[in-house]
Amino acid sequence: MKKSLGPKTLVYPTPVFVVGTYDQQGAPNMMTVSWGGVCCSSPPCVAVSLREATYSYGNLVSRKAFTVNIPSQKYFKEADYMGMVSGRDENKCEALSLTVVNSTVVDAPYIQEFPVVLECQVIQTIKIGGHTQFIGEIKDVKIEDSCLGPEGFPDVEKVAPFMFSPGDRHYYAVRQCLGKAFEVGRGK
Ligand SMILES: Cc1cc2nc3c(=O)[nH]c(=O)nc-3n(C[C@H](O)[C@H](O)[C@H](O)COP(=O)(O)O)c2cc1C
Repeated sequence: MKKSLGPKTLVYPTPVFVVGTYDQQGAPNMMTVSWGGVCCSSPPCVAVSLREATYSYGNLVSRKAFTVNIPSQKYFKEADYMGMVSGRDENKCEALSLTVVNSTVVDAPYIQEFPVVLECQVIQTIKIGGHTQFIGEIKDVKIEDSCLGPEGFPDVEKVAPFMFSPGDRHYYAVRQCLGKAFEVGRGK
């Protein structure tokens, strides 16, 4: 028996990304984004949806570049802060004592302390409604060596990302490995 909840953005899991941009003066800004995800494999692309009211929106329109920083669980309060305070009013990285690094690949900053960063060039912008989707081609991915698994890919348990739950508006840890994809379903 299913109960109808109506047309709502209740998708699970939704990521907790921290999107890095520069403003017109070259000051770095970071903003938390959950309306986002991978949207193409070739070229590798990630999409983030921003409201025009955010400071980051104007930065993205003028600079056409951004980073997607993936914070680990120990930074969940910092990520929440970056989703409540605007860069218009405060230098969030300074306030949080986080280290800003200038990407040499795209015109955007990233955060040293977060284990994974995707450096993206905007290739398409789609005004959907209240949100505008920015599609970024991933020019490079950087990851802390300590978070790599034996096959040279990010080890999710070491990266320790967390998700946002729309609806009840809580953060949840991403933890346990269930099995290997494109394998465990064989012979079912
Ligand atoms: C968990 C979480 C997820 C969020 N996701 C989005 C999002 O996907 N798009 C958006 O426009 N705002 C989102 N926000 C709100 C912005 O992060 C917030 O308005 C922020 O202050 C904007 O920063 P800025 O003005 O410095 O760009 C989210 C906030 C939180 C706490």
